[in-house]
Amino acid sequence: MLGRLNHVAIAVADAEKAAKIYGTAFGAEISATVPLPEHGVITVFATLPNTKIEFIQPLGADSPIAKFVERNPDGGIHHICYEVPDIIAARDNLIKEGARVLGDGQPKIGAHGKPVLFLHPKDFSGALVEIEQASEIEQS
Ligand code: CO
Repeated sequence: MLGRLNHVAIAVADAEKAAKIYGTAFGAEISATVPLPEHGVITVFATLPNTKIEFIQPLGADSPIAKFVERNPDGGIHHICYEVPDIIAARDNLIKEGARVLGDGQPKIGAHGKPVLFLHPKDFSGALVEIEQASEIEQS
């Protein structure tokens, strides 16, 4: 089941600078700047009433977004993140329906401390999709 839109991610050369105008001009709540070395990014979030904007900046030489920012020096929309109630069930169903899961297919812990997976843009109308576990899986 497809849940809420958790965030839209914008990749930029300087995440803090990019987020700033959302705070000053829109009055949005801006998070602290958080480096995520295991994901190769630095993140800043702008919190909106119904979702978040995630600004991501390359971190380290082999950051997965380094090439994207190189190609888009002014920044650009990088991915959209949907919540799913059970990430393993969602993954298995996506694979069954022919969608490609990126990496080794094992969820990694994302920016919110919850398991995430990325899906191939070619299977989703050219948009890179991230799915995030909405909350703890209830054991039945
Ligand atoms: Co994200």
